Amino acid sequence: MPQKTVNQTTDNLYSESQDNAFLGYPSSPGLISTADPDFEEPSEPVAKISTPEKPAAKPSPKTKPKRSNLETLLVGLDLGTNTTCVQIAELGAETVEASALIPTVVGYARPGILPDVLPGNQTTFFGEEAIAHKLHLDLVQPLKDGVIDDLEAVRDFLGYVKERIGDSEDTEYRAVIGTPANADPQAKENIRLAITQLFDKVILIPEPFLAALGSRKESTNVDPITNSIFVDIGAGSSDVCLIQGYYPSSDDQISFAFAGDAVDRIIQKSILGKYPDCRISLSKCREIKETYSFVNGSKNSVLAPVMIHGKVKRLEVADAIDTACSALLEKIYQAVRTLIMRADPDSIPSLLENIIITGGGSMIPGFDEGLESLLLEEGFEGCKVTCVGESYKSRVAAGALIAAHQADERQWQNLLR
Ligand SMILES: Nc1ncnc2c1ncn2[C@@H]1O[C@H](COP(=O)(O)OP(=O)(O)OP(=O)(O)O)[C@@H](O)[C@H]1O
Ligand SMILES: [Mg+2]
Repeated sequence: MPQKTVNQTTDNLYSESQDNAFLGYPSSPGLISTADPDFEEPSEPVAKISTPEKPAAKPSPKTKPKRSNLETLLVGLDLGTNTTCVQIAELGAETVEASALIPTVVGYARPGILPDVLPGNQTTFFGEEAIAHKLHLDLVQPLKDGVIDDLEAVRDFLGYVKERIGDSEDTEYRAVIGTPANADPQAKENIRLAITQLFDKVILIPEPFLAALGSRKESTNVDPITNSIFVDIGAGSSDVCLIQGYYPSSDDQISFAFAGDAVDRIIQKSILGKYPDCRISLSKCREIKETYSFVNGSKNSVLAPVMIHGKVKRLEVADAIDTACSALLEKIYQAVRTLIMRADPDSIPSLLENIIITGGGSMIPGFDEGLESLLLEEGFEGCKVTCVGESYKSRVAAGALIAAHQADERQWQNLLR
């Protein structure tokens, strides 16, 4: 196993001693969220704070699930740009008590909306409900490129998540939350600000590491925590992580803001270039991608039905999809290649057999073979790339819940209630 250097500059809660290993793996302390008492608010916060026009969030009228006599509830949270997955379990319990997937979107009632247009005259909607009423709402996506972009909206959204899992005064809520690989201190601080007064304790862990933890049971190959490269292709960011039996250091992780949303933008630009009058929306491009995506010129023609000026026309979109999805494949290949080269040479043969792709981008047909071919062409023989399939949606949250169970008492960071 290669020797990992331990960065002691970030805080003094962790040291290089085995005693302070994280979750049983020798840790790289800079990557674990800590109390960060010296954190200074930058003059220009990254996240947008309130917009005056927005009506205040009102709790959803849904009945709150009742919890009784519970002391501690563990929460595994994957706060995604596109979809949030939350799983909960009681401290010490073997089973996952509940799991939910919620589109990460908040809808605020448009000013001047007439009475009884929106159900219950609510001013704020979340997830599926917000999407269902989007005609009369200002839809806000609180995250962009994998990180918080609108702090007020994300607080409203997480308030709703908390309500869904059952808000109780008597319960201590401990959340493990995924962050993009190598998230900067401001991005982490924004998560802490977003959950303050909602959760009591938190640990932040890179998403691909959590995805690996959450994939241990499903794996039929070498245990992904022992030796793997995990690739998480989301909507806002792609995260690639080398995992070799220890908690990943910053050198083991590569993250970039090129993922599903960027693919949609390229598809849109390309279709608009070819059909300038079609006024195709980004959401339509996303739908086209999710229906027809492929890589490496494996389809010659894709005729997608698109509504133009009220009439359905079939547009040839194969070239647009190919350009966009193959650009993503190339970027992922470059990142995987970089991490293979950084690995201990003796570990590489079994590492190459354990390259795992998760996140919505893993649903692109042929992405695994495409990556394998690029690696083979480069001379990495014996590669095996696996896509996790539909279950990608809950891998990070499942890993977060496992991490919550494994965490030591002192590894939790306290938040104000
Ligand atoms: N069948 C499919 N083919 C291609 N792309 C798909 C498919 N299904 C989902 N996607 C894309 O996957 C992305 C969403 O993935 P995911 O749910 O992992 O993102 P996220 O976790 O919300 O985002 P992030 O991790 O960046 O914060 C979207 O861009 C979506 O269009
Ligand atoms: Mg994600």
